[in-house]
Amino acid sequence: MRTVDIIQKKRDGKLLSTEEIEFLIEGYCSGEIPDYQMSAWAMAVYFNGMSAKETADLTMAMARSGDQADLTSIPGVKVDKHSTGGVGDTTTLILAPLAAAAGVPVAKMSGRGLGHTGGTVDKLEAIDGYRVELTKEQFLQQVRSIGVSVISQSGNITPADKMLYGLRDVTATVDSIPLIASSIMSKKIASGADAIVLDVKTGSGAFMKTLDDSIRLAQAMVEIGAQVGRATVAVITNMDEPLGFAIGNALEVREAVDTLQGAGPADLTELCLVLGAHMLQLGGKAASYDEARAAAGQLLASGAALGKLKELIAAQGGKPALADRPELLPAAEFQVPVPALEDGTVSHIDAEALGVTAMMLGAGRATKEDVIDLAVGIVLRKKVGDRVAAGEPIAELHMNRNEPMFTEDMTQRMRNAYTISQEAVEKAPLIYAVVT
Ligand code: URA
Ligand code: CA
Repeated sequence: MRTVDIIQKKRDGKLLSTEEIEFLIEGYCSGEIPDYQMSAWAMAVYFNGMSAKETADLTMAMARSGDQADLTSIPGVKVDKHSTGGVGDTTTLILAPLAAAAGVPVAKMSGRGLGHTGGTVDKLEAIDGYRVELTKEQFLQQVRSIGVSVISQSGNITPADKMLYGLRDVTATVDSIPLIASSIMSKKIASGADAIVLDVKTGSGAFMKTLDDSIRLAQAMVEIGAQVGRATVAVITNMDEPLGFAIGNALEVREAVDTLQGAGPADLTELCLVLGAHMLQLGGKAASYDEARAAAGQLLASGAALGKLKELIAAQGGKPALADRPELLPAAEFQVPVPALEDGTVSHIDAEALGVTAMMLGAGRATKEDVIDLAVGIVLRKKVGDRVAAGEPIAELHMNRNEPMFTEDMTQRMRNAYTISQEAVEKAPLIYAVVT
């Protein structure tokens, strides 16, 4: 087999065989196939796409390129959940214990935040003592005993994807649905779950800005799941404004605890009930979606999901008391309100701009090496559709530095992210579609 022939085939719009795709991925990982040939192939895929079978083959070749978690020692249907990346998305902290409380084992490896999106591992580190690194055996043992563990993605998961994603990033080939779908699914499959619930974000704060593209990405991922025998459901959700009120690590832990106590923001609670219901259904704990949703609601109302969060925190070395007294979480020194300059109705909130602002406050990283401040962030006081009067705070900055110029800059960024309209505002739906 010659790489140039494979590139030519894809250039000419023909289908690649399983062996050809494996040859490419193995050769690229071993260094035998150079970046320039892989770039040419990625560009050919960008223009000509890939069939469902090719996409599944690429996914599996990448999933096999490194370590693969073996969860077979855990009884039951292991269900994972994944979000394509939003702002202020605290769902994992709620859904992992919720699903576990229903008896669905969750053995979850999460990532850190980069750029305008946060990462679950950083949020967990806001919990004093919580260890995000466990040995493989500790991780499996914990899921066998309490049904849930959430750790930092470690080891050498999908090195082929890391290399290819890096290459796509600098060759204008990121925006290809089959390449994105296989990239995401390869990581989920290597992480070992039997079934996967995907939260595909759509809108200004999301990777996918349009609903059509989001649906196509969701369909591609669900199809991969079907091809490789991992039941997958994708929920397409609104990321035209941040989820919930809190953006920032400790602030989001607090919001997760509030939600598990039944006092969370309406949108975050609703999204968790929808995603949670799909997790319970895929986990075989309910016969229908409606039954699963009622069960998820019951797990929040009864405190069972909150109790499971406490077990999770305790098992990983943290102080579970924090789930009753969130004031024990790290808090920022300064809380600075951002007053609105005019009366009106909030018509749009630029989620990505708020993610960037939270990052500049210290809650996130511009580069992988940055050290973050777990206490800082943003708490929104107004969301889309809310009335606001001039002088009333639209949000609050939680800061550990309060030099006038910095505070002024952050305040200005907050105001720029909000659009206040004089007309009536129609709120976009939270859930656009479910792809199964
Ligand atoms: N996220 C991923 O993990 N991979 C992509 O290709 C795009 C977004
Ligand atoms: Ca939030």
